[in-house]
Amino acid sequence: MQKAKRHSIEEPAEIRSRRFQGLEIDPFSVMVYSFVLLRMNDLRGEFKRMANTILIGSQWGDEGKGKVIDVLTSKADWVVRYQGGNNAGHTVEIGDQKYVLHLTPSGILRPGVKCVIGNGLVVDPVGLMAELQELEGRGIDIKDRLFISDRAHLVIQYHKELDGAKEAKLSTGKKIGTTKRGIGPAYSDKADRTGLRMGDVLEDDFETMLRDRIAVKNALLAVLDTEPLDADGLVKTCTEALDYLKPFICDTVPMLNAAVRDPEQNVLFEGAQGVMLDIDFGTYPFVTSSNTGAGGVPAGAGVPPHCIDEVIGIVKAYTTRVGEGPFPTELFDEDGKQLAEVGREFGATTGRPRRCGWFDAVVARYSAQLCGIDRWALMKLDVLDGFDTIKVCVAYECDGKRVDTVPASISKLSRCKPVYEEFKGWNSSTCKAASFDELPEQAQKYVRWIEELTGVPVSVLSVGPKRSSTIELKV
Ligand code: GDP
Ligand code: IMO
Ligand code: MG
Repeated sequence: MQKAKRHSIEEPAEIRSRRFQGLEIDPFSVMVYSFVLLRMNDLRGEFKRMANTILIGSQWGDEGKGKVIDVLTSKADWVVRYQGGNNAGHTVEIGDQKYVLHLTPSGILRPGVKCVIGNGLVVDPVGLMAELQELEGRGIDIKDRLFISDRAHLVIQYHKELDGAKEAKLSTGKKIGTTKRGIGPAYSDKADRTGLRMGDVLEDDFETMLRDRIAVKNALLAVLDTEPLDADGLVKTCTEALDYLKPFICDTVPMLNAAVRDPEQNVLFEGAQGVMLDIDFGTYPFVTSSNTGAGGVPAGAGVPPHCIDEVIGIVKAYTTRVGEGPFPTELFDEDGKQLAEVGREFGATTGRPRRCGWFDAVVARYSAQLCGIDRWALMKLDVLDGFDTIKVCVAYECDGKRVDTVPASISKLSRCKPVYEEFKGWNSSTCKAASFDELPEQAQKYVRWIEELTGVPVSVLSVGPKRSSTIELKV
C-alpha cells in the first residue's frame, strides 16, 4: 500500500513492543474496525474514478499556465483559481485572438466550462469588473458560469497604494519588485483579521466597514509619506464595481465539493505564480504572499486533499523570473538576450522584461517533491530551436560543496553557483511538429534528459503559443 510505504520509517523496537504489550483482541472490535476500513476503501474508490487535477507553475511564474489550462480545459467541467490575485497574467492565444487573464480562470474561454474564483484569492473588484467587461465585449458569455467565493478577500485601492509606498521605502537589494497590485497588503489584512471579504459586500453595513478601513489606511499612508485617499471617491468606485460583481458572489464550497466527488465531472485547479514564489517554500522574502503550490488547493478552494487525483507541473524548457531575488541560472550574456527575444519574455501583467536563464533541474526536482508532481507540461521548447549549445543546471555549488536542493537561506541561495551540463542543440524548427516523433532527434533527447534529471515524465509538450502547437505524450 502506498500509504504504508510513505510511513515506513522503522519504529524503535522498544516503543513497538510497549504498544502491543497486553493487547487483547476483541472479535467484535475487529469486525467493526474491518467494516469501517472497507467503507473507507469504498469511498477512496469513488475518488479514484475522478480526474481532479492541479496545474502548478513550477518555476518563478509565467511558465505558460494559461496556455496549458486552456488546452486541458477541453476535458474539464470546472476551472478553479485558488490563490493569488491580479498579480497573475495568464496568456491564452486562440486563432488570431489573444487574451490575458488576471483573475478570471482560463476556463472562461471554453463555452460551458464553469469557473470559480476561490476563497484563497485576493480580488481587486475594479480590476475584475474591467476584465469581465472586456471578455463580455469580446463575445464571451460569463453569466451562470462564473462564481466568486463569498470568502475571497477584497483588494482595495489602499492596498495598492501601500504596496507601492512600502516598496519605495525599501533600499536597493531589499525591494521585492512586486507587481504593485496590493497583493501583500491584502493578504496581510487577511492574516491580521481586518480584511473585507466578498460576502461582506452583501451586508447593509458594508459602506461603514469600508469607510472605517479607509480612515485607518490613510493614517498608515501618511506615515509612509503618501497622499491620503479621497474616501467618498473610493467608496463610489468600489460600490460601482461591487454592484456589477454581486450576482457572481456565492458560497462556492457546496458546488465545488459536489463537483470533486462527482465521477462524471473533471475539475482543474489553476495555479498562479510558481512554486519558487510560494510564501513558505519559495525564495523568501522575494516571493508572493500566498501558497502557490499543491498545498494551497485545499485551503484556497475548500476541498479535501484526498479528492485530488493528479498534479501537473508546468515548466519552461528554460527559466525566467520577473522582479527581484536570487536566480542561480540567470544569464547576462547573448544567450540570455536570445532567450528573452525569441521567447518574447515580457511580463503579461506589468510589461517588465523577464530575467532569463537555463533550465534549473534543482528547482524542478524541488517543486516535484513539494507538490507531488505526476507529470510535466514542458513549455516553449521552440525557443531553444536556434541554440548551438544548451545548458542545464544539474546541481549547485555553494561554499565549495555540492548542493542538490533549494536552500531556505536566501543568502546561501545567492551564493549558489549552477553546476551545468551541456547539450548539443538541434538548430532546426520544432514549431510544426505534430507528434513527438516529428521533433528533431536532439530535441527528443532533450525532453528525455529533462525527464531523467527530474524523475518526472513529460506528458504535454508545447512548441508555440497557440492551442494547435501542443503535443500530448503517452506516459
Ligand atoms: P502564465 O503566467 O504561466 O500563464 O504565462 P504567461 O502567459 O505570463 O507567459 C507565457 C507566454 O509564453 C505567453 O505569451 C504565451 O502566449 C507564450 N507561450 C506559451 N507556450 C508557448 C510555447 O510553447 N512557445 C512559445 N513560443 N510561446 C509560448
Ligand atoms: P503568473 O501567474 C511572475 C512576482 C513579482 C514579484 C513577486 C511579488 O502570471 O505566473 P506580488 O505582486 O505578488 O507581491 O509580487 O512575485 N510575481 C510574478 N512573477 N508571474 C506571476 O504570475 C507573478 N505574480 C507575482 O514580480 O517578484
Ligand atoms: Mg504570467
